[in-house]
Amino acid sequence: MEARPAPSLQAQGITAGYGSVPVIVDVSIAVGPGEVVAIIGPNGAGKSTLLKTLVGILRLDSGRILLGADDVTGRAPEELARRGVGYVPQVNDIFEPLTVLENLEMGGYLLNAAQVRARVLEVGAVFPQLPPMLKRRADKLSGGERKMLAIARVLMLDPKVLILDEPTANLSPKLADGLLREHVKRLAGLGKAVLLVEQRARAALEIADWTSVLVSGSVRLEGRPADLLQRQDFEELFLGAGTELGVSDESNMEET
Ligand SMILES: Nc1ncnc2c1ncn2[C@@H]1O[C@H](COP(=O)(O)OP(=O)(O)O)[C@@H](O)[C@H]1O
Ligand SMILES: [Mg+2]
Repeated sequence: MEARPAPSLQAQGITAGYGSVPVIVDVSIAVGPGEVVAIIGPNGAGKSTLLKTLVGILRLDSGRILLGADDVTGRAPEELARRGVGYVPQVNDIFEPLTVLENLEMGGYLLNAAQVRARVLEVGAVFPQLPPMLKRRADKLSGGERKMLAIARVLMLDPKVLILDEPTANLSPKLADGLLREHVKRLAGLGKAVLLVEQRARAALEIADWTSVLVSGSVRLEGRPADLLQRQDFEELFLGAGTELGVSDESNMEET
């Protein structure tokens, strides 16, 4: 079996939350170049909380965060972004009143004008759907286009690590599969370390190299997807938590 790459980003035993009661407890996770690591688990498990802690938005109570070999525990989001950590949040992922181009320019906020122009071309090559719509207002985009722009905006700084919080939320199953199989997988193929939170467990398992199951703020199970799927306790973990594998709320999805 292939060994996992040395981590680009890792959390070692982190505990964090919003008040005195921690939401995530003693969580360890790692992602290396070329890997897709998926975090799955029921609603409210603490998946978004874990990501917000990793990118410096939330302060941690204990544990360490390492970027390569450097301890970056407690560093500000801006510093982590500067050092190659890109984060696409679950909501508020684009600036709606701005055009596609302006959104990309905002994403390149650490670059000079010439670098921004060059990078817009490079990101346009990664997502060829974007260049023809540079002048459109972001609030006119479909759900799929919108998520693509959110990822492209973060790619403006050419991050080493890409952290995606439920990128397929509100997308139809077909669009969701396309985004994961085509784009997310390809970004890992470009050598990026991709850490993905996904509500569609089965779709995540298909593209992930490694998967952690987060339940009630703790990693309850982790491993290679093929190994996880063979374990009887895997499905039970989901069912016990009131969530069916791969089934998501289809009430507010978009088709285009
Ligand atoms: N801003 C916040 N302030 C206080 N509690 C929060 C906040 N955001 C989330 N929580 C709580 O933290 C827990 C985990 O939430 P979250 O990390 O969003 O879960 P998930 O992303 O797995 O659905 C939930 O109980 C939620 O109510
Ligand atoms: Mg969440």
